[in-house]
Amino acid sequence: MEVMTEKKIERKGPVLFSPYKRGEGIKAALKLKRNDILFEVKEAGLKGRGGAGFPTSAKWMLTAAAKSDKKYIVCNADEGEPGTFKDRVLLLEYPELVFEGMVIAGYTVGSDQGIVYLRGEYEYMLSSLEDYLKEMKKDNLLGDKILGTDFNFNINIHLGSGAYVCGEETALIESLEGHRGEPRNRPPYPVNTGFMGCPTVVNNVETLSSVPHIITKSGEWFKKHGTDKSTGSKLFSVSGDCNKPGVYELPWGTTIKELLKLVEAKDTKAVQVGGASGVCVPVNQFDRKLGFEDLATGGSIMIFNKKRDMLKVLKNFMEFFVEESCGQCTPCRIGNVKLLEGTEMIEKGTHTFKYINTLKELGKTMQVASKCGLGQSSPNSFISILDNFKEEIFSSGRNGGDKK
Ligand SMILES: Cc1cc2nc3c(=O)[nH]c(=O)nc-3n(C[C@H](O)[C@H](O)[C@H](O)COP(=O)(O)O)c2cc1C
Ligand code: SF4
Repeated sequence: MEVMTEKKIERKGPVLFSPYKRGEGIKAALKLKRNDILFEVKEAGLKGRGGAGFPTSAKWMLTAAAKSDKKYIVCNADEGEPGTFKDRVLLLEYPELVFEGMVIAGYTVGSDQGIVYLRGEYEYMLSSLEDYLKEMKKDNLLGDKILGTDFNFNINIHLGSGAYVCGEETALIESLEGHRGEPRNRPPYPVNTGFMGCPTVVNNVETLSSVPHIITKSGEWFKKHGTDKSTGSKLFSVSGDCNKPGVYELPWGTTIKELLKLVEAKDTKAVQVGGASGVCVPVNQFDRKLGFEDLATGGSIMIFNKKRDMLKVLKNFMEFFVEESCGQCTPCRIGNVKLLEGTEMIEKGTHTFKYINTLKELGKTMQVASKCGLGQSSPNSFISILDNFKEEIFSSGRNGGDKK
């Protein structure tokens, strides 16, 4: 059967968009011992594509080692970071990779249940994904005694309810359990105490989609792409001022300059890497590389040309964080409001430079004192936009009370 696609695009890429035959990942995995799969994923150097870059083999090893009769594989398909839309493409056009990655993860860690936490706004793809799961069951790639082995695995899809923070893995688990989507204290980590208190792997859609390729083509093959510390390829969701926005698969290590050429961006003055919680890179840093050793990112790339007002960009990001903070901890709940107020003061010219510097220090405190990644990363834009675009932002009329 064919899963609904929004637009038929011929996609090319070194890993995820390379040829793959449905079912072959599961077939190959079930012939291997669990330790051999862990070895292959480790050899590949696969790191989480959801943003944090945690080594996937380590997460799986910890879950495999945890003692419990019940374990879960959760696919994080919340895709809430502003400017990110690459998981949507994987789910719509490559569901075999996502689901087979979950089955292989289940087999490796000793879990018989997978759950996809699907972004609420992606409800339109729910029925076609469920149809696809039924097809997999018919082909014995899912369900009981998969491909004649003793391994059972099922997948359910759970629809999210629209909060950005629900993409954070512990808030996601709370939401799955029917509670308010609020991050938990860590430790304990989901690998030991996750969904319903059981050991749980939470992986991003793209991370899981890399696994069938690694198992069929080898970890050695996978790590030939990318760099030493960032192996494989990455999907980038490119939006903003360019002729060819869209989802691109590129090897890690690609520079911003190379990416801008590919998407035909002209007169670019800033590239926001990693969404609202990422960093804003100015022209004189366009030689920087996309990868864990330099610009780590979940894949959101927003391009701004010379006509854009960077203060407006910043204000937009800060409004987003004030709206999306779950309010549980003070640094994030109050801090984001203060950073937004500071941005509005600059807009009106009522700030002082002394106060803006104090806010930057507050941002640094938020980065270390906030309970989850939302508050730890929300000051990134505030700090990087004010540092990298100070001449533009503090131009005439916005000089501030102390005019320094
Ligand atoms: C506020 C917030 C939102 C997040 N949203 C997502 C998301 O939409 N998708 C995702 O895969 N990870 C998201 N993450 C990261 C997850 O907490 C987690 O690290 C990830 O799902 C782990 O998968 P990986 O190791 O495969 O990257 C988010 C983190 C934070 C702090
Ligand atoms: S950092 Fe923000 S989103 Fe995370 S727990 Fe604290 S208030 Fe909630």
